[in-house]
Amino acid sequence: MTEKVILAYSGGLDTSVAVRWLKEKYNVDVIAFTVDVGNERDFTAIKEKAVKVGASKAIIKDVKEEFVNNYVFPALQADALYEGKYNLATALARPLIAKLMVEIAKQEGATAVAHGCTGKGNDQVRFDVSTNALAPDLKIIAPAREWGMTREETIKYAHKFGIPVPITVKSPYSIDENLWGRSIECGVLEDPWNEPPEEIYAWTKSPADAPDKPLYIEIGFEKGIPTSIDDKKINGLGLIRQLHELAGAHGVGRVDHVENRLVGIKSREIYEAPAGTVLQLAHQALEGLTLSKDQLRFKQKVAMEYADLIYNGLWFGSFRDDLKAYVDSTQRYVTGTVRVKLFKGNCTVVGRKSPYSLYSLKLATYDKGDVFDQKASPGFIHLWGLPIRTQAQAQGISEIKER
Ligand code: ARG
Repeated sequence: MTEKVILAYSGGLDTSVAVRWLKEKYNVDVIAFTVDVGNERDFTAIKEKAVKVGASKAIIKDVKEEFVNNYVFPALQADALYEGKYNLATALARPLIAKLMVEIAKQEGATAVAHGCTGKGNDQVRFDVSTNALAPDLKIIAPAREWGMTREETIKYAHKFGIPVPITVKSPYSIDENLWGRSIECGVLEDPWNEPPEEIYAWTKSPADAPDKPLYIEIGFEKGIPTSIDDKKINGLGLIRQLHELAGAHGVGRVDHVENRLVGIKSREIYEAPAGTVLQLAHQALEGLTLSKDQLRFKQKVAMEYADLIYNGLWFGSFRDDLKAYVDSTQRYVTGTVRVKLFKGNCTVVGRKSPYSLYSLKLATYDKGDVFDQKASPGFIHLWGLPIRTQAQAQGISEIKER
């Protein structure tokens, strides 16, 4: 019996060529599998194309809700930003896609999974590591990593086998998108000195063309999960979509990042994440109000570890479960409302409130009603400074002063 392979299929040139290439090279039946993680596309056309280029079957799966609830929002709660800048939109979708591929492979009795990643990026690592973790016996084939064809050769191959070459192939950019963000690289962006041309942006207006009047919005959170906009309850997906429009129209969410890939190279990527940018800032502002100093400080370290782990393809390891447990615990009181101002490419937090706020006006105020006991401060300072006084005296005041 001919073996079956599940191919992660995007409908683009590379994965279309991969369908054919897999059949030629490995003599297998190819089942094209396309996941809807909010990448606006015509899924019916993708399905038809898959079969047209030689797939024995094409499967589409809408996992937008699962993506939001089990991947995007946990990352938001963690404040996970790779190198402090990238909200990990692409990286977060990979383990979910790998998990679904494994499920489909079991259902269909396939012996291998395949994806269109090259051998230079992070995505191959995320797919392969996740697949290995979930199904160690499944073979993994990465045609674009094996075939060694240049762009021109791939196009030639397509022509030879009657695979349609879309006009968009002319675009010099490599773009990946899902509901949490859009990642753009290649073309003129490869020179980090070049300013990104306006044409690469699809979700955000140029700040120069954004409205001259700021827009204020209020985002409500429950236990670190955004649940309302301007007091109107809305589910996660709807909320992201609405914020995406609002913030995008004000030019919010453009990120220009020279990042360190896991495979050791630096690469320049532009991200568009209007909703993500607003939510990240708002969430952090609410944490600033509801978490203690120590919780916040430790959480920053956790955020960095969590972001690295997602970026590096280790989603299905126990370390993530451990970090998630800490993050979940911190989110118990991250409930409240944050007011943000969107204006000319900027998102600024201008107000925050919570029933669990640790901010005490009675303690903070310099006006009347102050309950802070200033008479307690000298005693506190006396003991706080005790070790440094002791050291200065025992080891020489002048020597310390010279440092
Ligand atoms: N650099 C990002 C990451 O590793 C995005 C990768 C995909 N980017 C692209 N333009 N196709 O997660």
